[in-house]
Amino acid sequence: METARFGRIGFIMAAAGSAVGLGNIWKFPYMAGQNGGGAFVLVYLLTVVFIGLSIFIAEVLMGRISRGDSVSAFEELAPKHGNLWKYAGFMVFTGILILSFYTIVIGWIFKYIFISFYSLPTTVESAGTLFGGMVGVEWFQQFVFFNMAFFLTIWIVVRGVKRGIEKVNIILMPLLVIILLALFLYSMTLDGFQDALHFLFYPDWSKLSGTSLLKAVGHAFFTLSLGMGTIMTYATSLPKNEDIVKSSFMVAVIDTLIALGAGIIIFTFIFHFNAKPSQGPGLVFISLPALFSQLGILGNVISVSFFVALAFAGITSAVSIVEPTTLYLINRFGMSRAKSLTLISIVTYIFGVMAIFSNVKVYSHYFTYFGKGYFDILDYLSSAILLPLGGMVIAFFVGFVMQKSRVHAVLSKYMSETVFNLWYFSVKYIATTAVALVMINKLFFS
Ligand code: TRP
Repeated sequence: METARFGRIGFIMAAAGSAVGLGNIWKFPYMAGQNGGGAFVLVYLLTVVFIGLSIFIAEVLMGRISRGDSVSAFEELAPKHGNLWKYAGFMVFTGILILSFYTIVIGWIFKYIFISFYSLPTTVESAGTLFGGMVGVEWFQQFVFFNMAFFLTIWIVVRGVKRGIEKVNIILMPLLVIILLALFLYSMTLDGFQDALHFLFYPDWSKLSGTSLLKAVGHAFFTLSLGMGTIMTYATSLPKNEDIVKSSFMVAVIDTLIALGAGIIIFTFIFHFNAKPSQGPGLVFISLPALFSQLGILGNVISVSFFVALAFAGITSAVSIVEPTTLYLINRFGMSRAKSLTLISIVTYIFGVMAIFSNVKVYSHYFTYFGKGYFDILDYLSSAILLPLGGMVIAFFVGFVMQKSRVHAVLSKYMSETVFNLWYFSVKYIATTAVALVMINKLFFS
């Protein structure tokens, strides 16, 4: 058993570092752009408040009481049939799927930090060619940057909870906030700022389809790092007497503010230069660099800052994606941290390489299944299916399987009776049914 614990601000920083990631700065803006802006943002916000936060607290609670890896948590906390419930803890393996494509994207970001210094593409077309070339043709460069991102992540986790994960978060999170704040202040001076606010906060319901609804719910899970035991695992290292409700609330607030802030910054530039908001995953890699380049040397500075912030956000999340499986192997098989990470790295690395080649044009047909590339499958399978499913299982478990007295004993210290009842109701009925409905709708009716 590992005993290192986070310090007081260590947990909040680490949990916020996990939550704030590519999901906030890369995915959220492009998804909002693709799904019509305001209406998508509103659904996402409602999901975060009414479903995400409840499940977040449920995960923290499970980790807090059990103090074990996710598999042991389900096993120990189930009043009966723990030997069956432990399989729910296998949700930690979703991390392997997520990490493999997540580190590829961090690799792209590394490359863009370099590009930002000296050769920003000057038009959207040349930016598109550059990005397309990096992803679809010149696989070697992409492969090298993927290796950097991948092994950096693993190295941090090898160093452990305190010397690796906590330390990185305590340094990088404040820097990230400072950079984003500076970019936000600058974007306030541009013409596009008003349009960005209008686009993100004025809902046009006609643009919201059933698929967008599922995506908004799936993204709420992704952005809060829910549904695969990350938060549960971090909560096992909580310092004693931490107010877990307040901390959860703070993490959700920080995560949401950063997503909205990043969205406003990005769309300010998009509208300032009359670019299209709905370009999908290329949004921050294609449009933004081309737009930044129009600002001359200032553009280089902004671009470097932006991609450095994105890299920081990505790394602090990537480490949190590996930790649950790591703790599982350490606890259940008595492996050392290094050995368990070696094992995880081998599998994840192979998936990662497959995902890279699924985007490379000459090889993509080897890695296309059911009409989708392996990279897209990993993303879709984890965000749209496995994470919501994992979140639903956690909600069901805490709401219906664990004894209420046990749940109440811990949470009543930090919640009034009314808030507890609201939370319990939300975990039992709202979180479980909402996710189930959206998933059934998606799988069978669209
Ligand atoms: N929340 C991170 C983001 O928004 C990604 C992430 C980190 C994550 N840990 C996770 C997603 C665990 C799901 C589960 O980019």
